[in-house]
Amino acid sequence: MNPSIFKRVFLIVLDSLGAGELPDAEKFGDKGAHTLRSLSRSEKLFIPNLRRLGIGNIEGLAFLGTNEAPEGAVCKLGERSNGKDSTIGHWEMAGVISDRPLPTFPDGFPQEILDEFSRITGRGVLCNKPYSGTQVIADYGEEHMRTGDLIVYTSADSVFQIAAHEEVVPLETLYHYCRMARNILTGQYGVGRVIARPFVGQPGHFTRTAHRHDFSIESPAETMLDALRNAWRDVISVGKINDLFAGRGLTRTFPTSGNSEGMKITSGLVNVDFKGLCYVNLVDFDMLYGHRQDADGYAAALTKFDGWLGGFLAKLREDDMLMITADHGCDPSDNSTDHTREYIPLLVYGRKIIPVNIGVRSTFADIAATVTQALGVDFPCAGTSMLGELTDLRTHLRNSAVRAMSHSHSPYSGFRVGAALLCGSGRIYTGCNIENAAYSPSLCAERTAFAKAVSEGEREFRMIAIAGGKDGVIRGLCPPCGVCRQVMGEFCAPDFEVILATPEGFESHTLSELLPLGFTL
Ligand code: THU
Repeated sequence: MNPSIFKRVFLIVLDSLGAGELPDAEKFGDKGAHTLRSLSRSEKLFIPNLRRLGIGNIEGLAFLGTNEAPEGAVCKLGERSNGKDSTIGHWEMAGVISDRPLPTFPDGFPQEILDEFSRITGRGVLCNKPYSGTQVIADYGEEHMRTGDLIVYTSADSVFQIAAHEEVVPLETLYHYCRMARNILTGQYGVGRVIARPFVGQPGHFTRTAHRHDFSIESPAETMLDALRNAWRDVISVGKINDLFAGRGLTRTFPTSGNSEGMKITSGLVNVDFKGLCYVNLVDFDMLYGHRQDADGYAAALTKFDGWLGGFLAKLREDDMLMITADHGCDPSDNSTDHTREYIPLLVYGRKIIPVNIGVRSTFADIAATVTQALGVDFPCAGTSMLGELTDLRTHLRNSAVRAMSHSHSPYSGFRVGAALLCGSGRIYTGCNIENAAYSPSLCAERTAFAKAVSEGEREFRMIAIAGGKDGVIRGLCPPCGVCRQVMGEFCAPDFEVILATPEGFESHTLSELLPLGFTL
């Protein structure tokens, strides 16, 4: 059994926030698609908190602004499933890879399906084409009111959508029709979702209501939700997660009307003492802006999320892990309203999370492997856990030393040095070099860190990381000077580990290597 080192995981999906085309995007008609790049061109985008976590450090996203001292771990993940739908994206993220895309019906549903649907509902069918959801009620709403026939339409997604006026077909009846449709739509007709699309109003002024409901197809194999639930963890859904998994594997669900409510509920849950996964989907990005090709609206919604995120980060506890990701792309500036085949970004944050950049991963399923391992639940799946990299101490110490460089007072040499000293107590003391106009009173970064630690009562030291470079740019190693080595010799054993930052990572030495035959009394 894996050690359970996290108590709660918040996995937030910003629906359709793609991080650039996948190598096979052309096969999906999405060459050059890049949702985040399209958003970056909007004046409405202001995302200081996502940048603080390091979103701009993700490979290929430097246009969002890189961050030398990110607070989160980042990477981007490719999709191995053969699709670009929300359902398939969420399934893969939950550990299940789909070899076949869910079926789409660009020419409408076959007559045999419609005949069966009409037979069991006792109502005729209007439209039966791919259509915009707002246009379809404008064009067919009046006829629907007059005849009672149901408006059936689809989209580029694998969906069977039924629109009906709430005063013509009561909500519960519409939901019942959807369940009946769900039972017919199996096998080669197994669409991802049957969606109830109720509306109200008068001809010329129809509007859709918040009573949309999705009836999803069940995932073909066990997901991380099933595994977590079977291991008695809480599995909480906020937004359409419950729909995407057809209700399976969840212990509590909170349907939402959109992003604002989703964020509000998630803020409430951060104060609840649960043990397990809180899985959130914020759908507005995709539904209101991506599909409608509204880059400014999309950017403004992301700005709003970012503002909320600032407050949320502050509420997270010691044993929490936050993951922010997406499920596919939906570039608002490409030439279609359809989803786009893109990488998804991943930002991971928590007190125990080391702000590492773990590059590019080959499957969304790495999220499932990481979440389940973090919560101490065995779940063999197609993904590889990132937990080791996310919680590796040496990398963390190295990055802490790099961050400490920013406080350097080095007006005379211009050489900035940072150190991070890990003590037996588990605490990390950082230090920077502090120069003086009289030169000789200058302090090195390592000795600043030691002075802070020793004066706080620390006497046991596990390892130190050192980073330095002219103008704060790390070009090579910054090994400790002789005086600092002698200070280390005063307090540390010969096997004390000294981690020297390189531009990319670090190398590790022992004190005895660096100071053989040090002076002792
Ligand atoms: N420096 C350190 O902080 N640590 C070392 O081990 C080597 C040197 C600082 C001192 C000075 O402010 C600058 O680097 C240039 O010598």
